[in-house]
Amino acid sequence: VKVPQTLNEPVYNYEVGSSHRQLLKDAIKKIKSDKIEIPLIIGGKEYKTNNKVEIRSPHDHSELLGYYYKASKDEIALAINENLKAAKVWSKFDFSERAAIFLKAAELLSTKYRYIINAATMISISKSAFQAEIDSACELTDFLRFNVQYMQQIYEDQPYSPKGIWNIMQYRPLEGFVFAAPPFNFVSISGNLPTAPAIMGNVTIFKPASSSVYAPHIFMQVLKEAGLPDGVINFLPAQGSQIGEYIFSNPYFAGLHFTGSVETFHNMWSNIAKNIPLYKTYPRIVGETGGKDFIFAHQSTDKKALITSIVRGAFEYQGQKCSAVSRVYLPKSLYNEIKDDLLHEIDKIKMGSPEDFRNFMNAVIDKEAFEKISSYIDYAKNSSQATILKGGKCDNSIGYFIEPTVILTDNPQFKTITEEIFGPVVTLYLYDDAKYEETLKLCDQTSPYGLTGAIFAQDRAAINLAMEKLEQAAGNFYINDKPTGAVVGQQPFGGARASGTNDKAGSLLNLIRWTSARAIKENF
Ligand code: SER
Repeated sequence: VKVPQTLNEPVYNYEVGSSHRQLLKDAIKKIKSDKIEIPLIIGGKEYKTNNKVEIRSPHDHSELLGYYYKASKDEIALAINENLKAAKVWSKFDFSERAAIFLKAAELLSTKYRYIINAATMISISKSAFQAEIDSACELTDFLRFNVQYMQQIYEDQPYSPKGIWNIMQYRPLEGFVFAAPPFNFVSISGNLPTAPAIMGNVTIFKPASSSVYAPHIFMQVLKEAGLPDGVINFLPAQGSQIGEYIFSNPYFAGLHFTGSVETFHNMWSNIAKNIPLYKTYPRIVGETGGKDFIFAHQSTDKKALITSIVRGAFEYQGQKCSAVSRVYLPKSLYNEIKDDLLHEIDKIKMGSPEDFRNFMNAVIDKEAFEKISSYIDYAKNSSQATILKGGKCDNSIGYFIEPTVILTDNPQFKTITEEIFGPVVTLYLYDDAKYEETLKLCDQTSPYGLTGAIFAQDRAAINLAMEKLEQAAGNFYINDKPTGAVVGQQPFGGARASGTNDKAGSLLNLIRWTSARAIKENF
């Protein structure tokens, strides 16, 4: 059996007057009026607990969208049991049956559920229609379809068998359950973290991010309708620290699929390490943990492409992508040539509710993010080593709005150039044109991260030098393009250093982590 070849899901542009736009607007109305109550889903059954949490729009404090429930100790224990029960059945499913379920989920997501999941993404995590479309509709669909292909490629990879012998590699699921803990910023990542292990025959506990439960819950409905058996993925909003305690002390904990902060990942890894003797099997630890992503420009660059990439890379989805551009290295001569045009482009940015499709930027996710980002801007405002060239206004009277902000500094180790801010703030550093190579080395050594980065240059020797000096600085490296928006199947995503274990999301490298191979030899 061969799974069908796949292409990337086409991106709709929701142009004025189109039926897509109308369907999306209708779905937004539904999301705003439904006042949903999102239950936990364990073994296919819905549970409501005493811990009820409000869901509000980040861009409008007065907009109550509904509620979700948080798991207590009892539901966490039940979810693990239901996972282990389901594992007995799911691990025996033939690969073509698993493929059919996830391919059907991709089909449902990109058709029947497309508008509603985009609408939930727009309104509950404040994403523009375009950003929601490339995330919830396209990237998540692509993850499902491409991962099914990678699954097949893994199974096809078989050892050599000499005459009289048959050698087989059996790619078994892990013995136990996987804990999937995604971030708020991408519904695609939220969907990929539990499904990638499940495609390989594993069962997972899926704990959505506390600030993004709505769209992931819709994705659970998609999986159910596609025929995913009950208990394979249990949906468990919960307090991170509490759930960790129970998950990591269970002998059947077999893997962690995580995207989030460095601090949380370190805590999780330490807890796992403490429990090693308890586990039936060494757990797989796969994590992606942020970045301090850069654009590095050489004087030979195409200026227009550079400006567009800085603006889009730094400010799309309010800079809340782990791949977002947050530091830019510019030769002094070039800066003088592009400064006015760059600031002019930023002036054109409209910010507000995603319901107005003309808004390029919306709100940041919550109060904590708003305060953290504002504190970096305040720090720059009060420093003699930095100038705010643009933006800097933070206003949370209606929603959590932060203007696109550009900081200029002459200190290459300035706080906003070294620390991850995760908001619409980009810092520029200017270098002497003659010090290109030296500054490449500086860029490499400035941050502990290694996620994404881009070189802008027309001169091939300059590109080659950047490739060499920045070899470890980015797991996703772009030449003359912004370092955001990796496409599944085209640029597998992930970084090393403090950015994670670099088990590339949307690739064979990732899926193989969710297997435990058995080598079988038969003599004839
Ligand atoms: N995959 C996203 C991007 O490349 C980030 O998670 O922007």
